[in-house]
Amino acid sequence: MVNNPTTQTPKRRVILVGSGSCLPDKTLTNQDLMEIVETNDEWITTRTGIRTRRIASDGETTATLAAEAARRALKDAAMDASEIELIILATITPEMVFPSTACFVQDMIGAQNAWAFDLSAACSGFVYGLSIAQQFVSSGRYQNAMVIGAETLSRITNYQDRGSCILFGDGAGAAILKAANSGPQGVMYSTSFSDGSGWTALNCPAYGSRHPVGQPLEDAAMTKMFINGREVYQTAVRRIVELVNECLEKCDLNIEDIAMFIPHQMNARIIESVGKRLKFTDDRIFINIDKYGNTSAASIPIALDDCRKQGKLKSGDIILLVAFGGGLTWGANVIQL
Ligand code: UT7
Repeated sequence: MVNNPTTQTPKRRVILVGSGSCLPDKTLTNQDLMEIVETNDEWITTRTGIRTRRIASDGETTATLAAEAARRALKDAAMDASEIELIILATITPEMVFPSTACFVQDMIGAQNAWAFDLSAACSGFVYGLSIAQQFVSSGRYQNAMVIGAETLSRITNYQDRGSCILFGDGAGAAILKAANSGPQGVMYSTSFSDGSGWTALNCPAYGSRHPVGQPLEDAAMTKMFINGREVYQTAVRRIVELVNECLEKCDLNIEDIAMFIPHQMNARIIESVGKRLKFTDDRIFINIDKYGNTSAASIPIALDDCRKQGKLKSGDIILLVAFGGGLTWGANVIQL
């Protein structure tokens, strides 16, 4: 693990001015999964908190979902796509090997003045992206940036593995950050970590440079996501607790100062366990995994948008976004709205 975050003193404020999300209409319920693998609704709901997930239809791709989330975020921010200067798109299910999904989205929404790139950090992609965007905007280099998390995980889910296929869903979420000289503090702190030695816990080995298309695979399942669920579960709880404590310390905040804890929706039990350890009251933990499952990089921006649209956040509130995922990667952002 290599990372030494320092206390950050933003040169200018970087405020959240809009959010949007897009979920496919098609659902995959626990009952549907019972027809695919040997499982049951009771096991899935008690072990994960998930009841249903959204699945992309044939015409839907990571870029189309991302573009729609981006359009909704622009509408929310009352901005035109031509005003956007930077698009960072986090995904592990890109449109194609290259060009980047971010470039497809730039074209789809007409953000001709933006530069755009993809970020691969699995479930931590959105918090990593927000951290990068914060630096560009706070330094004065750009006035604004759009950060998107978008996935079509159903395309790399192993529907023969009951231990993982029950978890994942598709969707996209987007947020727009803008420079400000007054008002809320905006992004107060961001922190990011990686530990590449943990890559075996969560991965999708083919196809890439190590296992190129055309070469025989030892196992056909190598084109699908593999997770060591139990290992990830335990490490995630530990790392998320550490992240929250670091954020509180660096921002000089108490747990009561956090109006809403919006974690990566990986498993309701993980979130509840973290919440209990940190003594977050239930009304200050946002969970929507029951509706959408685990959507990796898309889960935090979808949850953020869902939480805002449900009227659970008000101006001045401090929110805490926290993620853990493949890489291994983990990170957090503290934002005053
Ligand atoms: O966002 C990053 C990616 N997400 C993750 O990596 C997820 C993190 N991990 C988890 O969410 C949980 O570990 C899981 C939900 C994946 C699994 O829950 P668990 O409580 O850790 O279960 P387990 O893997 O320890 O399995 C317990 C039992 C096993 O049976 P035995 O060996 O005790 O007889 C499994 O075979 O549950 C069985 N099992 C199932 N039973 C019914 C595993 N999957 C299922 C299933 N339905 N879908």
